[in-house]
Amino acid sequence: MHEEPLPPLADGEVLVRNHLLSLDPYMRSRMDEQGSYAEAQELGEVMMGGTAGVVVESRNPRFKVGDPVIAQFGWQLFGLSDGKRVRKVDTSVAPLSAYLGVLGMPGVTAWYGLKTICRPRAGQTLVVSAAAGAVGSVVAQLARLAGARVVGVAGGAAKCSYLINQLGLDAAVDYKCGQLEGVLADATPDGIDCLFENVGGAVFDASLGRMNQDGRVAVCGLVAGYNDHPIPLFNVRAILNRRLTLQGFIVSDHMEQWGAALAELTGLVKTGVLKYRETVISGLANAPAAFMALLAGHNLGKQLVALT
Ligand SMILES: NC(=O)c1ccc[n+]([C@@H]2O[C@H](COP(=O)([O-])OP(=O)(O)OC[C@H]3O[C@@H](n4cnc5c(N)ncnc54)[C@H](OP(=O)(O)O)[C@@H]3O)[C@@H](O)[C@H]2O)c1
Repeated sequence: MHEEPLPPLADGEVLVRNHLLSLDPYMRSRMDEQGSYAEAQELGEVMMGGTAGVVVESRNPRFKVGDPVIAQFGWQLFGLSDGKRVRKVDTSVAPLSAYLGVLGMPGVTAWYGLKTICRPRAGQTLVVSAAAGAVGSVVAQLARLAGARVVGVAGGAAKCSYLINQLGLDAAVDYKCGQLEGVLADATPDGIDCLFENVGGAVFDASLGRMNQDGRVAVCGLVAGYNDHPIPLFNVRAILNRRLTLQGFIVSDHMEQWGAALAELTGLVKTGVLKYRETVISGLANAPAAFMALLAGHNLGKQLVALT
C-alpha cells in the first residue's frame, strides 16, 4: 500500500473519491509480462481497474461536487482527471455499483456478443458458460428474452439453483459434477445452436461437441486459462463438420455500440426485467484476495470492492 498527499487541482481537473472498484478476469492476463490483447500492467504503477465514485472537488465546468461518476482510476481511493474519461451516471435509475456491472462494461459485453454474434432465434438452444457471473448472467437473461432455450454452465449447486430459480433459465449444468458431457447432453437434447463462451477448456470442448449445423460461437473469454492452465480443445472437427462460425470479440473495439447497448440494458434494469447480483468485499487491502477468489469462482454476479 502506498500513500501520498492529494495534489492541488489545476484548471479543468476533477477529483473523485472512489466508492467501488471493479474486479475483472482480464486483469489477470495483464499481470503477465507479455500482456494479452491489451498492454501489460506496468510494475510500480497503480493497478488498472474500473471505478465508481463521487466528485469531491471540481475545477471543470462539466462536473460539480456530489456528481456520481464512473472512470478507470484503478486500485486507489481517489482519482484525479482532466475529466475526459470520466462519465456521469444517474443513480436514480440504479445504484452506483450497477454501472460497473449490468450497466457497465460486463453488461455491454453480454449485449454485444449475444446480439451480433450468437443471434439466438426463438426456440433455439443457447449455452452460456460462467453463467452466474457478471457477463454470463446478462447473456442468459437477454437470450431468454429473445425466446431461446437457455442452458447455463456454472460451478456448484448453489449457482445452478440461482440460475434456475432466480434467473429462470431452462436448465443449469454444474461443470464440477464429474460427468460434464453426460449432464450437458441431458440439458441440451436438441443440441446447441448458440454458444457464448466465457471459460475455455473442458467446458468449451464439451459444448463444441454438441453444436448443431450452422451454430454460432461467441468467444468472449477463456478464464480457465488465465492462470497459465492449458485449455486444450478436442472437438475441433465439429467446427468443420457442422459449419460453425466462431468469432472472438473485445467489447472495447465496439465503442460505437455502447450507446444502444446501455439504452436497452437501462430500460430492462429500470423495469426490473433484468436482474443482477453483486459480491462485495470491503477495503482496498482485501482487493488482492477478492481478485483471487473471483478467479476461483467464489463470486455470484459482479465482483466489487467497497472503498468507503
Ligand atoms: N471479450 C470481452 O470484451 C470481455 C469483456 C468482459 C469480460 N470478458 C470475459 O468474460 C468472462 C466472464 O467475465 P466476468 O467479468 O463476467 O467474470 P465472472 O463470470 O463474474 O467471474 C469469473 C467466473 O469464471 C468462472 N471460472 C473461473 N475459472 C473457471 C474454470 N477453470 N472453469 C470454469 N469456470 C471458471 C467462475 O465461475 P464458476 O463458479 O461458475 O466456475 C467465476 O465466477 C471472462 O472470461 C472475461 O475475461 C470478456
